[in-house]
Amino acid sequence: MRVLLHTGKGGVGKTSLSLATALGAAKHGHRVFVLSTDSAHNLGDVLGRPVGARPVEVAERVTAQEVDVLSELDRSWSQIQDWLRELLQKRGDDLVADELLVFPGMEELVALRAVREVEATGDYDVCVVDCAPTGSTLRMLRFPDVLRIFMENFFDWKRKAARLLRPVAMRVGADVFVPSDEVFAAFERLYSEVEDVRQILMDNDRTSARLVVNPARVVVDETRRSFAYLNLYGVATDAVLINRVLPTEAKGGYFARWAKREQLELAEIEQSFPVPRFQAPLLRTEPIGVDALGALAEATFGDRDPAQFFTRARPIRLTKRGEQTVLEIELVNADSNELEISVRGDLLYVRVRDIQRRICVPDSVAGRSIASAEISDGVLRVAFEA
Ligand SMILES: Nc1ncnc2c1ncn2[C@@H]1O[C@H](COP(=O)(O)OP(=O)(O)OP(=O)(O)O)[C@@H](O)[C@H]1O
Ligand SMILES: [Mg+2]
Repeated sequence: MRVLLHTGKGGVGKTSLSLATALGAAKHGHRVFVLSTDSAHNLGDVLGRPVGARPVEVAERVTAQEVDVLSELDRSWSQIQDWLRELLQKRGDDLVADELLVFPGMEELVALRAVREVEATGDYDVCVVDCAPTGSTLRMLRFPDVLRIFMENFFDWKRKAARLLRPVAMRVGADVFVPSDEVFAAFERLYSEVEDVRQILMDNDRTSARLVVNPARVVVDETRRSFAYLNLYGVATDAVLINRVLPTEAKGGYFARWAKREQLELAEIEQSFPVPRFQAPLLRTEPIGVDALGALAEATFGDRDPAQFFTRARPIRLTKRGEQTVLEIELVNADSNELEISVRGDLLYVRVRDIQRRICVPDSVAGRSIASAEISDGVLRVAFEA
């Protein structure tokens, strides 16, 4: 089953383009499931009809569902949560208890389990996911690492606790500090579920991210970061969907300056996202309902099947060379002699003749100086000092 994850800054058109993509794919004969994992669902608003936590058919070959994020979370988390709450309350930290009970990124990841359930039915060829805005998507990508670190410490602690703490704890009647086997089992279950979801996200043979942007500076800046992180976490972005592009007839008069500005932003988008780009026009009215969204799909993808892979490339990767961290960037038709490169903050500026790239570098190397940079076989390798 093909999986398409739509993410982008708040309000850029993720839900509209997720639905348009689903309707477009259905037109090409695919059986499509649209899933919203954003806890602030708006599939229903955009479709102009209610969609709930149970799958409903919204058009021919298109089924939609808004995942009940909180109850999904409860399903895997409640036992662990009870233990943590008790633990923190015993320590008198009532106030922090609730804050600590949700790991950032977990909600979204847990909601993505629904993708597996859709796949298990065997009834769908494509699952289109309307994700939460970029901030949560990035936290979601980090969550498996956070959980792993937590688990490692937790289990290490369990061994020590079992040896040292339990007799003491029992004597003072404070055995709540030592989690029961059920709590450990619940943790292990959560961990393996998260692993399953991570496998889906990183499976480049079926999953692609689609970044939705508007041709506006603040949007592009934020999305550039998501693009880099998705890449670095191994999630392939196969297209950028530029939504609300002014149509030719709207470029004069009052909107002339907007049109000029937009030109600059479109150039910026081209430099920042070296994957296929599609433009969706700013429509005369909000595209609400199946017909309007179907038309939006056509205006965006023409007669191409939106479920296809628009590229298989992974344009940014992170590797290690001894102690150094190496950022690999796809740059075909370029050679080292003409390379100009610089870093400012977390942005890497690359220029080779008319090719320009502005790549967001991961926090782990931001601020470090460049040890070497060279291009071979169409790949730019930038090594950062350890
Ligand atoms: N191409 C377009 N032309 C005109 N209006 C549009 C277009 N795309 C989206 N809209 C409108 O913009 C608004 C926001 O769109 P949408 O709800 O799809 O964004 P979103 O990214 O899902 O937002 P949120 O982050 O709140 O979930 C809606 O009113 C929608 O109808
Ligand atoms: Mg939305």
